[in-house]
Amino acid sequence: MKTVLITGASSGLGKSLALLYAEQGWRVIACGRSEQRLAQLAQLNTNIETLSFDITSKADVLKAAEPLTKIDMVVLNAGDCEYIDDAVQFDSDLFSRVIHTNLIATGYLLEALVSKITKGGRLVFVSSSVVYLPFTRAQAYGASKAGLDYLAATMRLDLQPQGIHVSTVRPGFVKTPLTDKNDFSMPFLVEPDAAAKRVFSGLEKGKATIEFPRRFIIILKLVNILLPKKWWNALNNRNAS
Ligand SMILES: NC(=O)c1ccc[n+]([C@@H]2O[C@H](COP(=O)([O-])OP(=O)(O)OC[C@H]3O[C@@H](n4cnc5c(N)ncnc54)[C@H](OP(=O)(O)O)[C@@H]3O)[C@@H](O)[C@H]2O)c1
Repeated sequence: MKTVLITGASSGLGKSLALLYAEQGWRVIACGRSEQRLAQLAQLNTNIETLSFDITSKADVLKAAEPLTKIDMVVLNAGDCEYIDDAVQFDSDLFSRVIHTNLIATGYLLEALVSKITKGGRLVFVSSSVVYLPFTRAQAYGASKAGLDYLAATMRLDLQPQGIHVSTVRPGFVKTPLTDKNDFSMPFLVEPDAAAKRVFSGLEKGKATIEFPRRFIIILKLVNILLPKKWWNALNNRNAS
């Protein structure tokens, strides 16, 4: 029986992924802070075990990972999003919080978990399609995910000789508690179960990059390449006002 550890499995995309892997016969180590939500998740499938810790505490991450051995796949999915409402009165506490959760904590998880991934196993980073374009108010979230994307790319280079594969997932908008907070329209919004299926099938195929929904990603890439930056800025400013 293969083992997958998934961070951020107490809700949203991570929860759907945990259930899908458990249904497919994997042993799932579902992680998050909320013991209550993790316990509810574990009741849904006996293949699911839970591990509750805060990824922003290095001591807690190292302690939680200590008893673990031989993991076939680690999915670094936990993350948070907060927006900078005023770029002039820049909120550096918010900026630090988001960078800490989405990027610095990933370093703690890598220290604790990479050495436990079996040869031929896989390390998965859940980044975001935000990395393709600058979005208004997304300074903290976008910077954290751009950093994560680079981190994943360099880990791929250095883990390849060790026989560990690395995948980067860049979802568009997925309907989860994270996006339920958004006060703007989210084009091509997908349900978390559908998103989990896309991730699962991409990982089964051994893809290095998994991006969805396809039409949304194509539009972002085309805008990035073809639309003059001053038009993109004007469009963002119009939507923000
Ligand atoms: N939803 C989207 O549209 C979208 C798009 C692109 C990328 N993503 C990325 O996908 C990932 C999952 O997001 P989601 O939309 O599924 O959000 P979500 O439903 O809010 O889930 C976030 C998960 O991360 C965990 N988490 C957050 N902070 C944590 C901490 N300090 N320690 C431990 N666990 C923590 C939460 O668990 P607890 O609350 O139990 O701690 C929760 O299980 C994130 O990395 C997000 O950036 C999402």
